[in-house]
Amino acid sequence: MLVMYLPHSAKQTFVSGEVALVGTGPGDPELLTLQAYRFIQQADIVIYDRLVSKEIMALVPESAERIYVGKKQAEHRVPQEGINQLLVDHAKLAKKVVRLKGGDPFVFGRGGEEAQYALANNVACHIVPGMTAASACTSYVGIPLTHRQVAQSCTFITGHVKGCGELDLPWQALKDEKQTVVFYMGVKSLPVITQQLIKAGRSSNTPAALIHKGTTPDQKVYRGCLESLEEIVEKYQVKPPTLIVIGDVVNTFDEKQLSGIGYLAPTKK
Ligand SMILES: C[S@@+](CC[C@H](N)C(=O)[O-])C[C@H]1O[C@@H](n2cnc3c(N)ncnc32)[C@H](O)[C@@H]1O
Repeated sequence: MLVMYLPHSAKQTFVSGEVALVGTGPGDPELLTLQAYRFIQQADIVIYDRLVSKEIMALVPESAERIYVGKKQAEHRVPQEGINQLLVDHAKLAKKVVRLKGGDPFVFGRGGEEAQYALANNVACHIVPGMTAASACTSYVGIPLTHRQVAQSCTFITGHVKGCGELDLPWQALKDEKQTVVFYMGVKSLPVITQQLIKAGRSSNTPAALIHKGTTPDQKVYRGCLESLEEIVEKYQVKPPTLIVIGDVVNTFDEKQLSGIGYLAPTKK
């Protein structure tokens, strides 16, 4: 077995001609890591996504060029191949290229593909982790992803369907009631998600929540159960970016205890 030990001092410095894939977290600028901030401060050019908040973009040095490559479902502003190429082209112009992404670059962020493309073109790539939406957004609304006896595992899964294809997921593997399931990009396919989970054996009364624009000033959380989610989406016109959280952990704290963003307080007697 090969064991690789990299001492802290082995951290690489960002040099011209390199790309840094930087995760910015789900929106609240306070969730940006110090490492992400350090890379952003050195950028010659920033290539950024739709989910990078304006507060974080405000931290980009004025001298840095900015290119928006954000995409909405089915409306890709710059195709992925074009983004890959942009990163490489600007690195080859001897720039420090910062690719800013919402959440973590390696969690449903296509960071793996971008890094592979950079390496295939002889461009070195830094990976700067960010807080993924499932982790931060649930904390902000008082939902622990795991809780002893209630949920011993947690699955992050994509609800995104390419084109008009079907949502082909391992439904049987998601039926365990002691497993929290978090769907990214699932609002559009919500009816299929709820039907398939119930068909696989998950109770229709399983607590569930929708977290819209979590950790931002526009954050909204809707709580219900598996079978009421569709109605909630319809009634409140819930749109992306939204996470779907399914499992008993959703009801760990009641709404009175959640008395602020990420703030739980004892219920007054
Ligand atoms: C392309 S994925 C990017 C995920 C990102 N790399 C991460 O680690 O969080 C986009 C999806 O992440 C979820 N998402 C990202 N930010 C969010 C937020 N602030 N609130 C709720 N969901 C969010 C939504 O499901 C959205 O459709």
